[in-house]
Order: sequence, then structure tokens, then C-alpha cells
Amino acid sequence: MKPNYIAEPFRIKSVEPLKMLTREEREAKIKAAHYNVFGLNSQDVYIDCLTDSGTNAMSVNQWAGVMLGDESYAGATSYQHVIESATEIFGFPYIQPVHQGRAAEKVLMPLLLEGKKYAIANMFFDTTRGHAVMAGGIPVDCVVPEALDTSLRLPFKGNMDCKKLVELIKEYGKENIGVIIMTITNNSAGGQPVSVANIREASKIAHDNGIPFMIDAARYAENAYFIKQREEEFKNASIKDIVTECFKHADCFTMSAKKDAIVNMGGLLGTRDKALFEKIKQRCISFEGFVTYGGMSGRDLEALAIGLKEGIDEDFLRYRIGQLEYMAARLDEAGIAYQTPVGGHAIFVDAKKMLPHIPWYQYPAQALAVELYKEAGIRGCDIGSYMLDRDPVTHKEQESKFEFTRLCIARRVYTRAHLDIIVDALIELKKSASKIKGLKIIEEAPVLRHFTAKLEQL
Ligand code: F0G
Repeated sequence: MKPNYIAEPFRIKSVEPLKMLTREEREAKIKAAHYNVFGLNSQDVYIDCLTDSGTNAMSVNQWAGVMLGDESYAGATSYQHVIESATEIFGFPYIQPVHQGRAAEKVLMPLLLEGKKYAIANMFFDTTRGHAVMAGGIPVDCVVPEALDTSLRLPFKGNMDCKKLVELIKEYGKENIGVIIMTITNNSAGGQPVSVANIREASKIAHDNGIPFMIDAARYAENAYFIKQREEEFKNASIKDIVTECFKHADCFTMSAKKDAIVNMGGLLGTRDKALFEKIKQRCISFEGFVTYGGMSGRDLEALAIGLKEGIDEDFLRYRIGQLEYMAARLDEAGIAYQTPVGGHAIFVDAKKMLPHIPWYQYPAQALAVELYKEAGIRGCDIGSYMLDRDPVTHKEQESKFEFTRLCIARRVYTRAHLDIIVDALIELKKSASKIKGLKIIEEAPVLRHFTAKLEQL
């Protein structure tokens, strides 16, 4: 029996044709791309699961908003619409639009880390980690240990390890910590949610020690949906009320709007501190653009104002998370290991378990990503030792805690048939998994190598 699939709460008006190459053609394409999925052209990909960021389908209302976008340099109505939507949802007095999540990080992180040494997060996303480092800080992950066991089915595996957080604050000295960050959902741990109880506790610890508490809000709506499903106190609350509750405990937030605000480009930054906001505006004007557009065109601001509201619609979220749950149920039936329970935006296949014969230094998750492309034209990516890169000091290869092949599902883009193709391809690959070969890097950049490295099959 096929697991339950929640039908799309929309119908399709505009379509984007897909081309399907033959297996031989795909083998040639991935070879020419040096076994790096970032080297593939999108027209050679059948189902693109590289990311759920900026790859989402906009609604008719958003496209209508695009036409209404006000391109004025200063004081545009579209800016006002974004501020209205964002204020209503997040309840912050000061909000600044920026062009994407990492732009918010670039503007804010140096302000938070001025004269400080550490930034602690449940788990940093790469760009957030990068901006903490570039601001002279040392980023420290502090996720609950349960996150590391992919077979454990617990409701909030994205949580901060609050006991360890207290110990770290004692060890580093509270005066040396610039910010405590909660990433919701916890992308690097497999899109795992964080509970309100954990947000409250971590925020209290931060505030008791005089440290600002920040939310990295990329997938805040999916996180709120999980809270509604899994945290007793909120089972009758609206998604918006849950979001309000989560954000109430934060002093500031950064947000990539390319995920849960269902736009192709955009970001937000929020603070409650007027003096900090003045500094944010100055940096925004220098790096992003004037405060009323923040690096965005008016049409993108308008789409964002609308997408923010669509992203917290419960019917949409039920269908959206339902797509992931449907795939997860099929993977369970097939005995394919992934980070369980399934998170909000992607299936994180446990490549360590699927390809136990490939050691971490031959990048099992990247090897599986390559095979999935060959098998069915599916593009996923490595979240493992290949992406982790070398140690910046010793330049030695490092073993990652996880070897995930991440298969992201873009919002409102693919149908159940596409999802079945992804699962079927994994099932097919599992049958002959022992024949899959590891990879070797033959050329790599000194930082962020996974985007451009060239590899060879062993
Ligand atoms: N924070 C989190 C948790 C993210 O997942 C991302 C992006 C960012 C910040 C940065 O936002 O891309 O708008 O600058 N994640 C994408 C991904 C790229 O594929 O997971 P951005």
C-alpha cells in the first residue's frame, strides 16, 4: 500500500518543460562536469534537488505583485508592504530587507562580534559560520547529541544542547561571546526542528549572561508546523501564533527569504535595539543599497510581502511537509536510512549506511549524488566530508559527523510522480550499492571547494 500523500492545495497554471537525457548522455555530462553536481547545466537535470533555496514556485498573487512592484529608490510602496507583512508575522520593531540570508549575516555579524571571540549556535549553516569567521569570531556548534544518530526518532533533534551551552559559557567567559544563535529548522542536522521549550531555555541562558540571542530564520514556518504537530502546548495554536512565540524570545534575527517566504530572491534582518538598527542601516546602505530596497528590486520586495503570508498557511505547510513524509514512509518500507524523523525541506540520505564500503575520505555522499544523477537525472548534493573541506590550519582532510546526500524538495514545484522517481532511483541504487565506487579530488580551491572541485571515480 502506498503511503498517504496530501494533495496539492493549488492547481497548475504555468509549466516549465523538463528534458530527460538517456543514461549514456547523463554519464557523459557528469563526467564532463568532473563528477561535481555544481558543474551540471540545469537543462541536463531532470529533477533538481540541489536546494530548496530560491527554487520555489511563486503563486498567481505573487506574480501579480511583481507587476505592481514599485521600483522607486526611496520610500517604495513595495518596501512598505514588506515591512507590514514582516512586522505582523515577526513582531519586531526594526526590520531591514536585504537581498538574501548571507547579506543579513554580512551586515549583522561584525556588529555582534565586535570585541568578542565566540559565536555559539545549535548548528551553523555554512554561510553563517563563514560570516562569524570573517568577523573574527570562532563559531561553535552545540546541537543535542541525539542529532548525530540518524536512526533515532525524536521530535526535536535540531535543539540546542542547553546543558553544554551553560558549560561553554563558563569555559569561554560570557564577556567573550558575541551571540547565541538558534537555526530553525536546523539545516545542517537534517532540517530538524527546534522546540519552543528549547528556544525559551536557550534564550533565558543567553539573557541571564547578557548575550544577544539570534534566530537564523530560514525555515521558521516549517519549524512552526513541526511545533504544532509535536509540542503539546501548541497543538491548537495557529502557525502565526507559534511563530510569534518563537520570535518573542529573540533579540535579533537574520532570514533567507528564499526558503519559507517562497521567493526566488530576498532576505530580512530584524532587531529590537534602536542603536543597533542605526548601525545596521549604515552597513546596509554601504553593502546592500538604500534602506528602503536593501539590494532588492521593487518587484522582488512585492513578491516577498505576499510570500511571507503564503509561507505560514497551514494547508500549504501540511502538504509541503506531507511530501517529505510521503517520501520518508516509502524509504522506511525500502529500508533506506536517512536522518529520521524526516525534516522539513529535504531527505538527508545516510550515505554512510547505504555505502558502508566507501570510507569517508572517498566521499560516500558525493558518490551517491553522482550515481543518482546517472540513474535518473536527479541532482542532490553532499553534506559530508567532501563539503566539510580541509582543516583551515593543518590543511588535512577532516571527517564529517555526517555523510548525507541531501535531496531538497522545492516548494510547490514537483508532483508525487517526481517524488516517486526519486525514491525508486534510491531503491534501485541500493540493490547494487556495493558496486558504487568512491571518488578522489584531483583539483580543489583553498576554500569552499565543493562548488568547483574536480573529481575522479576510483
Ligand atoms: N541560514 C540557513 C539555515 C540556510 O539554510 C541558508 C541557505 C542561509 C542561512 C543563507 O541564506 O542562501 O539566502 O544567503 N541555505 C541554502 C541551502 C543555500 O541550500 O541550504 P542565502
